[in-house]
Amino acid sequence: MRATLLASLVALGLLGPSPGATDKIPIGAIFEQGTEEVQAAFKYAMLQHNQNITARRFELQAYVDVINTADAFKLSRIICSQFSRGVFLMLGAVNPDSFDTLHSYANTFQMPFVTPWFPEKVLAPSSGLLDHAISMRPDYHKAIIDVIRYYGWRKIIYLYDSHDGLLRLQQIYQGLQPGNDSIQVETVKRLQNVSDAINFLHNIEELSRWTPKYIVLDCPTEMAKEIVVSHVRDITLGKRTYHYLLSGLIMDDRWESEVIEYGAINITGFRIVDTSRRYVREFLEGWRKVESGIQSNTGTAIQRDTISAQAALMYDAVSVMIEVFNKLLRKKPDMFRSNVRRGQVFNNGSRGLECNYSKNWVTPWEHGDKISRFLRKVELDGLTGEIRFSEDGRRTNYTLHVMEMTVNSAMVKVAEWTDEKGFTPVAAKYVRLKPFAEIERNRTYIVTTIEVS
Ligand SMILES: *[C@@H]1O[C@H](CO)[C@@H](O)[C@H](O)[C@H]1NC(C)=O
Ligand SMILES: *[C@@H]1O[C@H](CO)[C@@H](O)[C@H](O)[C@H]1NC(C)=O
Ligand SMILES: *[C@@H]1O[C@H](CO)[C@@H](O)[C@H](O)[C@H]1NC(C)=O
Ligand SMILES: *[C@@H]1O[C@H](CO)[C@@H](O)[C@H](O)[C@H]1NC(C)=O
Ligand SMILES: *[C@@H]1O[C@H](CO)[C@@H](O)[C@H](O)[C@H]1NC(C)=O
Ligand SMILES: *[C@@H]1O[C@H](CO)[C@@H](O)[C@H](O)[C@H]1NC(C)=O
Ligand SMILES: *[C@@H]1O[C@H](CO)[C@@H](O)[C@H](O)[C@H]1NC(C)=O
Ligand SMILES: *[C@@H]1O[C@H](CO)[C@@H](O)[C@H](O)[C@H]1NC(C)=O
Repeated sequence: MRATLLASLVALGLLGPSPGATDKIPIGAIFEQGTEEVQAAFKYAMLQHNQNITARRFELQAYVDVINTADAFKLSRIICSQFSRGVFLMLGAVNPDSFDTLHSYANTFQMPFVTPWFPEKVLAPSSGLLDHAISMRPDYHKAIIDVIRYYGWRKIIYLYDSHDGLLRLQQIYQGLQPGNDSIQVETVKRLQNVSDAINFLHNIEELSRWTPKYIVLDCPTEMAKEIVVSHVRDITLGKRTYHYLLSGLIMDDRWESEVIEYGAINITGFRIVDTSRRYVREFLEGWRKVESGIQSNTGTAIQRDTISAQAALMYDAVSVMIEVFNKLLRKKPDMFRSNVRRGQVFNNGSRGLECNYSKNWVTPWEHGDKISRFLRKVELDGLTGEIRFSEDGRRTNYTLHVMEMTVNSAMVKVAEWTDEKGFTPVAAKYVRLKPFAEIERNRTYIVTTIEVS
């Protein structure tokens, strides 16, 4: 497959004159194609910071590349081009293959690297020194096991669509305790696409029509939605005999509006953004205003009423980055003075950060180690809750909400899961679905009365 390279270089130094050259902090950002919402969250966070002229200590200047390649060579060129501009920190929302390349450069050059999510498998730095990458997405394999236990499922069917999905299954296996609460994974199947999934469901339906089927579905939001909708619409497939557990953080996406359609089947999933918090509500208000009316590339207007977990994690990544530079500059206001001269960034005396292979050594980013250490100490409130990191750069003290939709009720929160306390059921406020919820377009209904309540 030929990988074409779409590198768009956007300098987001959107606002005006700053009092001194050191007040600009250059950062690099690399996004995979198809991460529009994540990019929007990034831009929104940058804009919010840069426009706050009275309160901000520095202006963020971003070099942004949108890639559609995992080709390590091409990617290295992009990374080196960003390094040569003298970025102080990297942000990246990329797939697992690209992640490995980016991660390796970050550790080699001691470049702090903040990412909304780590892939399942993250190699430790070969130097044995500090890992310069930190991930905003908390680890929740145990939460998946706890939900399966909560429902008392003995046998599950595991459907996934990527290598990472398979690695997650491995993590789940490793989290299982031997003994009587062991869970049996009846079937494991890698899905190519939605029709592949539906065909597979037909097969298991033929094998056992009446037994309950517990499906752990590990795939991106759009695919999961399409599978569930196709299932509900397929009159030859059972509904009440199924229960889906969506193992990605995909319940933050807009399911609510489509819940009527989905209401015909049991679905459980996780949410990380707690919309009942004031911080989140205020964010959503601002986000809606700034982002309202923008057109997606398919021509439809995007409504930003909710935020996906991925975009929220990216917004929080920017907040963490802002906080770390605030902290550093509060402590030592002239920390970067010798690095910026006449608009050029210098690293230990030479311009930019050189990733030049013709030498036998590398000159690491001189402040990288310090920034990375401070990153781990950041504490703040974000969209995804309280943000704290452990020494190895993983989130600690976080909360996930377990959401459930059933045949009889709209989406409700049934439990909370925290890394400290584990699974805690909450008193769910079930909302019964309206009886005409199951109307489908292609069926004939004779409507005799319409109740207006
Ligand atoms: C600017 O930042 C300050 C301090 O963080 C905050 O209190 C204020 O609400 C911000 N103003 C705007 C317009 O975002
Ligand atoms: C395991 O099974 C035994 C006997 O069936 C029961 O007494 C015990 O409570 C079970 N333990 C757990 C953790 O479910
Ligand atoms: C879905 O995947 C199957 C199996 O790989 C393939 O045969 C089929 O053509 C695919 N369908 C679509 C619509 O891509
Ligand atoms: C689906 O949810 C309903 C209502 O909570 C429950 O009665 C039923 O047993 C569930 N079905 C499965 C397969 O779990
Ligand atoms: C790499 O380093 C060599 C020797 O120091 C130099 O001649 C060359 O111009 C450098 N290349 C780049 C792209 O900086
Ligand atoms: C900075 O440069 C000096 C001399 O050029 C060198 O001795 C020192 O090791 C360099 N520091 C780093 C962190 O590379
Ligand atoms: C975790 O959060 C809870 C409440 O949000 C707090 O009481 C507790 O002290 C926190 N634990 C750590 C280790 O920060
Ligand atoms: C209605 O059903 C027919 C035949 O089953 C199908 O060809 C058509 O696409 C369906 N229309 C809609 C809107 O689902």
